[in-house]
Amino acid sequence: MRKKVLILGLCLLGVTHSLSSKDKKSIPLYKDAKAPIEKRIDDLISRMTLEEKVLQLNQYTLGRNNNVNNVGEEVKKVPSEIGSLIYFDINPELRNSMQKKAMEESRLGIPIIFGYDAIHGFRTIYPISLGQACSWNPGLVEQACAVSAQEARMSGVDWTFSPMIDVARDPRWGRVAEGYGEDPYTNGVFAAASVRGYQGDDMSAENRMAACLKHYVGYGASEAGRDYVYTEISAQTLWDTYLLPYEMGVKAGAATLMSSFNDISGVPGSANPYIMTEILKKRWKHDGFIVSDWGAVEQLKNQGLAATKKDAARYAFNAGLEMDMMSHAYDRHLKELVEEGKVTMAQVDESVRRVLRVKFRLGLFERPYTPVTNEKDRFFRPQSMAVAAQLAAESMVLLKNDNQILPLTNKKKIAVVGPMAKNGWDLLGSWCGHGKDTDVEMLYDGLTAEFGGDAELRYAMGCKPQGNDRSGFAGALDVARWSDVVIVCLGEMLTWSGENASRSTIALPQIQEELVKELKKAGKPVVLVLVNGRPLELNRLEPVSDAILEIWQPGVNGALPMAGILSGRINPSGKLAMTFPYSTGQIPIYYNRRKSGRGHQGFYKDITSDPLYPFGHGLSYTEFKYGTVTPSATKVKRGDKLSAEVTVTNTGSRDGAETVHWFISDPYCSITRPVKELKHFEKQLIKAGETNTFRFDIDLERDFGFVNEDGKRFLEAGEYHILVQGQTVKIELID
Ligand code: NOJ
Repeated sequence: MRKKVLILGLCLLGVTHSLSSKDKKSIPLYKDAKAPIEKRIDDLISRMTLEEKVLQLNQYTLGRNNNVNNVGEEVKKVPSEIGSLIYFDINPELRNSMQKKAMEESRLGIPIIFGYDAIHGFRTIYPISLGQACSWNPGLVEQACAVSAQEARMSGVDWTFSPMIDVARDPRWGRVAEGYGEDPYTNGVFAAASVRGYQGDDMSAENRMAACLKHYVGYGASEAGRDYVYTEISAQTLWDTYLLPYEMGVKAGAATLMSSFNDISGVPGSANPYIMTEILKKRWKHDGFIVSDWGAVEQLKNQGLAATKKDAARYAFNAGLEMDMMSHAYDRHLKELVEEGKVTMAQVDESVRRVLRVKFRLGLFERPYTPVTNEKDRFFRPQSMAVAAQLAAESMVLLKNDNQILPLTNKKKIAVVGPMAKNGWDLLGSWCGHGKDTDVEMLYDGLTAEFGGDAELRYAMGCKPQGNDRSGFAGALDVARWSDVVIVCLGEMLTWSGENASRSTIALPQIQEELVKELKKAGKPVVLVLVNGRPLELNRLEPVSDAILEIWQPGVNGALPMAGILSGRINPSGKLAMTFPYSTGQIPIYYNRRKSGRGHQGFYKDITSDPLYPFGHGLSYTEFKYGTVTPSATKVKRGDKLSAEVTVTNTGSRDGAETVHWFISDPYCSITRPVKELKHFEKQLIKAGETNTFRFDIDLERDFGFVNEDGKRFLEAGEYHILVQGQTVKIELID
């Protein structure tokens, strides 16, 4: 027996070559790294008891839970047969010791898969996803996700619960920070980029990890922006709005998905057979697995579907949900359900197969342990910091720049005011992994580094992010009076967005608005720098600000890029991936709405019906002039190739990056369509005075076609429009 354990241990250390051929023969097929994965799985499943199978379908936590919203039963003694654990440690030792138990104390030695929420970085925290989307640079987002994967995997995490690709049109919902905005295609492109970044070509590599598309599906439609609540989603909207990013993420190879908390028009996401089995497994042929969201199986009771936890397990499992995250519904009831014939053994085997497949693909059977390395070799590598800084720079959106107050040149006295100026924590944003406030370069420090040589900077906080204490106003006004320009750093605290962080208004607290009005009394130009996790209501701040720079929650090193934009060292290139409403009362407001029967009427009587800053808005320090959009043909037949090109000239005197958004509109269709739909985007650096060409290769089926309420794509003959920057090109599709 001891010999066997020793041989197993040696195998796991990758020293099988030193074993004699007799020893090799005794190694079961599932441990043979050279055998095909499906054969290894067959062999392993054939050896497993029902109890062992059931445990593979459960996820518990290991160590101190660092997520305040995940409140659950603490598992005192984790069984060595457990399928998965959420891993909260920053170093791999605890993982390795638990993994050792799984490998050596369980009968079959099946490795555990360790998951964690590395959402916008593990330790090197880069901007929140909503900010990332505003970069329109999927290549850069892919690199950032690769950094996250390297840090996480080397720290003992095999699997991240990311990306979140919930199309979201209600900024009261705190989780808009976690996704890529209001557009389905944009979410899909960034889903694919993140999957590539996390998983690479081979997720068994020591610097890659498995991705998880979440929350499948429709969570972004949460009623009135309240978290966890009901979502009313028609079958049509499900397909034309919410599913597309998932389809794109699955195509990119995402290993796993997480089921959503929300009730989707009467069938909760975590017990929805149409979504999990019919669409994902049957139509899209996904061969990985779905993990529930935290406690979501048990919550089927609260949602009014299941009367008991056992029923909840039955509903969820039979709908196609493989892994139960912290409900203790599968571990307690699945065996019984099989014995009662309410769940079949074939279903259990299929679910276990899916979980094992991901473990095999991650290489966990060959390398179950994470090598122990120094934190300094894992985190904040110079190249990782460079990626984070570049992404921060490209995510920032210049919303307003009256009289070209920016860039700030020849300013000798700079006032820096506001609750975000000397604040590390709130710049990290929600889901900041193992980020610490002490890792963060504060905005004030970035400004000092940027301007310090030539200008004097003076700071006053003015007020806290919320509350009624105005005692700092007078000091702030003094600093403003002294200055040539006032940089006011306002925004949201970290806890105001993310999970369980809905807000009834998207305006900043009154005290912050009042601070700016107070500073305005100094008569100096006011530059607003905004740190936040959602679009904000800025209609009272906008008139009192000369310039507004949206920097989101930029992560550990967004301060210098922010200062670089203010100084002009960096030319801003971000554009909004989510509409900034004029006021909270306009919500939901998004660019790709459907048309009204009375386009000339139906507006608000008290305020404008237009957003303050629409989707795609973002200013630059240079000017771009678009040429005429030229299609390769104006009449096409099904199956034809079509493309369109447009030249963009940088007519200004500085280099700048421009993103061209290509929209399609189908003016008449048997299923009404949005006023316009983004189908392609591309960002290019255009040197001053130079002209670049942008091209859109159109796939008629994909880009002109539409999807019906059961997901069937169709393409109707008739007129289509290609829309680019105010230009409309008509294309006729003839039968
Ligand atoms: C709940 C959140 O909804 C989900 O996004 C997260 O991945 C899990 N908890 C695990 O922390």
